[in-house]
Amino acid sequence: MRIFEEMESEVRGYVRAFPAIFDRASGAHLYDEDGNCYIDFFAGAGTLNYGHNNPIISKALIEYLQRDGIVHSLDKATVAKRAFMEKFRDTILKPRGLDYKMQFTGPTGTNAVETALKLARMVKGRSNVIAFTNGYHGLSMGSLAVTGNDFYRDESYGARNNADSVPFDGYLGDGVNTIDYLRKFIADKSSGIDLPAAIIVETVQGEGGINVASVTWLQELETLCRDFDILLIIDDIQMANGRTGTFFSFEEAGIKPDMVTVSKSIGGGLPMALLLMRPELDQWKPGEHTGTFRGNNLAFVAATKALSYWDNNDFADSIAYKGKIIEKALQGIVNKYPDLDIKLRGRGMVWGLDFGSTGFAGEVSKAAFENYLLIELAGSEDNVLKFLPPLVIDEETLREGLAIIDRVIGELLEPNQIMLKRAAM
Ligand SMILES: Cc1ncc(COP(=O)(O)O)c(C=O)c1O
Repeated sequence: MRIFEEMESEVRGYVRAFPAIFDRASGAHLYDEDGNCYIDFFAGAGTLNYGHNNPIISKALIEYLQRDGIVHSLDKATVAKRAFMEKFRDTILKPRGLDYKMQFTGPTGTNAVETALKLARMVKGRSNVIAFTNGYHGLSMGSLAVTGNDFYRDESYGARNNADSVPFDGYLGDGVNTIDYLRKFIADKSSGIDLPAAIIVETVQGEGGINVASVTWLQELETLCRDFDILLIIDDIQMANGRTGTFFSFEEAGIKPDMVTVSKSIGGGLPMALLLMRPELDQWKPGEHTGTFRGNNLAFVAATKALSYWDNNDFADSIAYKGKIIEKALQGIVNKYPDLDIKLRGRGMVWGLDFGSTGFAGEVSKAAFENYLLIELAGSEDNVLKFLPPLVIDEETLREGLAIIDRVIGELLEPNQIMLKRAAM
């Protein structure tokens, strides 16, 4: 580990949470250099929905490289890019009645968010955007302006310009409809909030603590946007690609966002990001928003293969099935410790156990790692244990991982420890 401590910036994060030197990975398993095998309930923060080194993806990549397929092309036309666009149109967009155009941005999520915000401002000729409490949209400056958690910001960055933060669904308690609140602020010329170009939202806040927006809330948000000529941007970077059970996370709500940002698992494990936009919003001049690494062809090859999981309903059915297994197991844990008032939230195959600000979620994640399971934290105070296994995980491994969590929680809460935890609450 010494080289990482000596040479790598203090900013390093996951290497501290999961202190092993990883070498190989397959499906839902990772192996360190000593050959220890870990179950992955972290999935590269939502990038590995199709698993590590998915064999159909790896095979396509190896073949592509062996035939000297183009790797880097800026935004020149390539066979790999054409194949991806055709597959995405035919398998994802058309069957859902969506006619978005695609923009290939730089390869990370924040690149897609920056692009969406910039385009929305340009099209509407307004600088303000609205985002929600606990939202996470990336850490480059434009995205940081709409990211809630102040851990990522220093006042000196000046990053909060032209953005307002308003309460997400449930933020003000169950009895308060936060869309009514927002509507009043937007309608009232004296509220201090400028009419925004766009509202950006996650349907399930991943980093923010697995906060799930209800279907009605999302529908009301869409209506609000239409009423005031505001663009609705769904940031689906973490929740698309099947995480919530459907390809896009907003499908259940039946809404049609003006723009959608997609990244993480779209590249089948390789870096790739996309902005989807209604065709009339595509008002860029040629080359006006550009960058060197837009559309990496290896990612197109991987992504095209990954989309074959959506050729029929089998994959969605398996997500629903495994999602129920997770929900049932976690509900069992909640029921076992009623005094701890653990909150369970989630959809599809993304779930969170909220232990409150006791530090207990961190203890569970640490103990899980000692038992060869990777699981990360979410929420403003790292209060949520975040279940995000690869969607392709087999049932046996899934149950094994859930059993590890159940066991380590039990061990941490042995009678003498319960007193300790309760005192801290
Ligand atoms: C919803 C959402 N938007 C944007 C981002 C930023 O993506 P990236 O880290 O690739 O820049 C993330 C990352 O976790 C995310 O979850």
